[in-house]
Amino acid sequence: MLQININGTLAAIYRAMCSLDASAGFAPDYAHSIRVATMCMAVGKSLNFPEKRLQSLVACALLHDICSPPPYKVIGESVPSQECLQEHCRIGQSMLDLLPLPTPIDGFILYHHELADGSGAFGMSAEQVPFEASLICLCGFLDMTVDFDKIGPTGLPTLRKTLQYGDFDRFNPHAIKALLKVLDGKLLHLLRSDLTYLFWEAFPPCNLHLNNNALYKLGAFVAHLVGAQSEYTREHSLQVANIYWLLGRERGYDKNLLAELYLVGCMHDCGKLSLSGRLLDKKSRLDTVEMQIIETHAHLSQIVLRSIAGASPLCEWASNHHERLDGSGYPNGLRARELDEPSQLLAVCDVYEATGASRPYHPRRSPRQIRSIIGKMSDAGKLNPEMVAQACGVLGHYRPGHVPAPSTIEQTTVLL
Ligand SMILES: [Fe+2]
Ligand SMILES: [Fe+2]
Ligand SMILES: [Fe+2]
Repeated sequence: MLQININGTLAAIYRAMCSLDASAGFAPDYAHSIRVATMCMAVGKSLNFPEKRLQSLVACALLHDICSPPPYKVIGESVPSQECLQEHCRIGQSMLDLLPLPTPIDGFILYHHELADGSGAFGMSAEQVPFEASLICLCGFLDMTVDFDKIGPTGLPTLRKTLQYGDFDRFNPHAIKALLKVLDGKLLHLLRSDLTYLFWEAFPPCNLHLNNNALYKLGAFVAHLVGAQSEYTREHSLQVANIYWLLGRERGYDKNLLAELYLVGCMHDCGKLSLSGRLLDKKSRLDTVEMQIIETHAHLSQIVLRSIAGASPLCEWASNHHERLDGSGYPNGLRARELDEPSQLLAVCDVYEATGASRPYHPRRSPRQIRSIIGKMSDAGKLNPEMVAQACGVLGHYRPGHVPAPSTIEQTTVLL
């Protein structure tokens, strides 16, 4: 079973969220989610939450607005419509349901815009909402109404009064009581924007062993995250993952390795999250400098995978997907003897998918056209010829861009 580092995973996702906000043109408040998570961590600790429950709460607080910018940013109003809020909450919950976390998080994100008087996104009462969701809601609202950088220690008594007697009567009273218990000078200090790095120090170390089902879900999570920036990269990543899995199965790899291949396929281009969406989806051909910028993504994908999976060989497979057997690839110009089998196979899958895909500068190509292009690369000593032959044989049965997911193939195989 693959061990992943939850701390590194959350940090990588947080960095991705900041990049997404910036490339979508929002003035990102990078520290908002960290401040909400810092408040939730203080409350969870003071209520003696078991460590795993605390980790799940803090992770949800940190990622509560994932893949769906808060509605007030989208429509530029302080009171977004109910439908808008519901959609925002649904997207966030469905994303985090894919993420491996230590304990179940049912409703934590779905109900993070519920108010105790039933006037929230889904009109739920305080009793129907998990405490974690009420707490995220309260801390999120407090952070949006208070500037913790300006308030200073002298503002603490006023802040506490506001929570007790001000607008906050619409929030869960248990959450308010729990927040008041920890809202002191020390917490105020930790909520300053220039001290957000302390949050990462305070998050309890957490490693999880993922079963194969969790690996598939994590792969889907990353592909969706990438898709928030570039729809093409999302489709491409999922197709590469399907092809990688299918060719791996053809080569007789076991179930555990196949699940790892799927995850790496979904993640191989995640380094593109650090690049501008405009550059990724540019309709015309890229110039030399733009190409150099794009090429950094292979190394960036390796950095993301390292923060998630540590020293696992999966990181090398991802970063090697643009290497070529004759040393002409990037980022390191590695040659055949330096590239292991999964690295060479991923390069074939990536080229096959990208060659067949519809792009602004070339239309979708048929399996025959792909065979001709990829065959020339194999003849030139750039791709493994045996793997290229296998890819052309196996994938010739599928319309380019329509290779089914492993779950669909396995169901079909069982039925046969
Ligand atoms: Fe939200
Ligand atoms: Fe790539
Ligand atoms: Fe790719």
